[in-house]
Amino acid sequence: MSDVALGPGEASLVEVVVHVAPEHAVDAELAIGAFSPGGFGQEELEDGGARFTVYLPTGDEARLESWLAGEGVPLFGAADVRVVPADWSERWKAFHQPVVVGGLWVGPPWQVDEAPAGMRRVVIEPAQGFGTGAHPTTRLVLGLLAEQPRASVLDVGCGSGVLSAAASMLGFGPITAIDNDPVAVESTRDNLVRNGVRGVDVRVLDALQQDLPKADVVLANVILEPLLRMAPRMTAPRLVLSGLLRSQVEECSAAYEAVGYVVRERRDRDGWSAIVLDDARPDAAAMQYRAAW
Ligand SMILES: C[S@@+](CC[C@H](N)C(=O)[O-])C[C@H]1O[C@@H](n2cnc3c(N)ncnc32)[C@H](O)[C@@H]1O
Repeated sequence: MSDVALGPGEASLVEVVVHVAPEHAVDAELAIGAFSPGGFGQEELEDGGARFTVYLPTGDEARLESWLAGEGVPLFGAADVRVVPADWSERWKAFHQPVVVGGLWVGPPWQVDEAPAGMRRVVIEPAQGFGTGAHPTTRLVLGLLAEQPRASVLDVGCGSGVLSAAASMLGFGPITAIDNDPVAVESTRDNLVRNGVRGVDVRVLDALQQDLPKADVVLANVILEPLLRMAPRMTAPRLVLSGLLRSQVEECSAAYEAVGYVVRERRDRDGWSAIVLDDARPDAAAMQYRAAW
């Protein structure tokens, strides 16, 4: 993920509204998310199709249309392009709603006062992109993470750092967070500071090229293709893998079963799935639970 990370107050923006048919809704979400992470909103239509509102620097609207065509996403009708209205900042904020998952409130800074009293809060600045916590793939990991025994964690593809911040608040540790994108690593560092989380080892590291730091629980919310390539590199006793379309679970499970993992659990949400796996190889490392948390 990189490209356009938009925030309130940015000058010279256009609002591009596109419609896609039901069978292209998930592909469109993936493609628009890659083009403009954190800079779009999505509404489901009655017929199962989707309407996306994408905020872009003026001039990028044609690039978005050709990007979607290149990703095999045809538009239903013409894109509607408007100069961003004066209340842009408020509209943009309306896209970023908090969620409650795994016993945590996860949301943007301007909503923090509305978090339920006494609930731990993970505050993520959506202007930086890389995952706010509200996406179904992240919510799936957060829900599953809360149910795991407290142990050390490796957050592969940490993005905004939402999973590392949540893991720390839930009592996991030590935590290592890696991403191959230096901007994501910066974003993780910023969000950990914002949340008062200390002691997370945050590094630029390509999980497909470099050795993976050791941990008891690996969290990896990345898409199918890198997950398949990571399978032979994994050695952690437990994995929580997400970013899978429901139709991709079998292929991903098979790749991990081929190297000695077994699927413990699967969870689905809004067309997405996450799986929890255990290392069943005879020489598998034993899980080191934290004595106190
Ligand atoms: C969908 S985002 C997930 C962000 C966050 N963990 C979450 O759950 O919201 C996937 C992240 O994986 C990172 N990523 C993709 N391939 C990677 C690789 N080979 N090594 C490390 N990070 C990678 C991307 O840069 C991106 O930040």
